[in-house]
Amino acid sequence: MADGAFMKENGFYEDVARCGVVPVVVLDDPADAVPLARALEEGGLPAAEVTFRTAAAAECISLISRECPGVLVGAGTVLDLEQAKRAVDAGARYLVSPGTDRDVVEWALSEHVNVIPAGVTSTEITWLRNQGIDVTKFFPANLFGGAKAISALASVFVGHKFMPTGGVSLDNLEEYLSNPAVIAAGGTWMVKPALFADGDFSEVTRIAREASERVSGIRS
Ligand code: 3PG
Repeated sequence: MADGAFMKENGFYEDVARCGVVPVVVLDDPADAVPLARALEEGGLPAAEVTFRTAAAAECISLISRECPGVLVGAGTVLDLEQAKRAVDAGARYLVSPGTDRDVVEWALSEHVNVIPAGVTSTEITWLRNQGIDVTKFFPANLFGGAKAISALASVFVGHKFMPTGGVSLDNLEEYLSNPAVIAAGGTWMVKPALFADGDFSEVTRIAREASERVSGIRS
C-alpha cells in the first residue's frame, strides 16, 4: 500500500470537515493537476477529489500527492477494485464512490484505506454502517431530496455523517452545511475546466475563496 493511505484515526474525517467543501475534479491533462491543486489551496480549499472519469486520474493524483503536501488528495468516481488499488498506489489518501461496490468497501476496510462510498436509501446506508462505514456520500444530492432527505436520514442513523454531492452550489451550501450530520459537501463549481482553459488559475482561487469564506461563515 502507498504511504499516502492513512487511517481515519489519523484525522482524515477532521480534515474533510475542516475543508467543508471538497472540490470534485475532472482532469484530462495532468499538466493542470498541480496548478489546480495549488489554486484551491490558496483559496482555502486544500482538497481535491480527482475522479477516475479520465485516463489522467492516477497521474494527476500522483502529481498532487508529490507536489502539494498540504492538499488532501483523493480519488473520486471509484467504481471497482482495480481503480481503488491504482488510486491508492498513486497516493490517494481516500476513495470516494458515487455508489457502493462491495469489493471496494471490503478491501478498503481491510487495508485501512479511507473510503466514502455512497448510499441514498435507508437500506444502502444500513448495509454500509453494518460494514463499519460511518460517512457516506449522498449523490446526486439535489435529485434525492437534498438537505431535507439528509435530515430525515440523519434522524434515524444517529451519528452517521453525510457528504452531499451533485447540485451543491454557493447558493444552497448553507442548507447542507448547517446540518451537523453533514461533514462536508462535494462540488465542481470551483473547478470547472472553463475557469482555467487559458492556463490562468486565478478564477479557481477566487471561487474557492468565496466557498471557503462561506463555509467559515456558516460554521462560526
Ligand atoms: C460528482 O462528481 O460527485 C458530481 O458530479 C458533482 O456534481 P456537481 O457538478 O453538481 O457539483
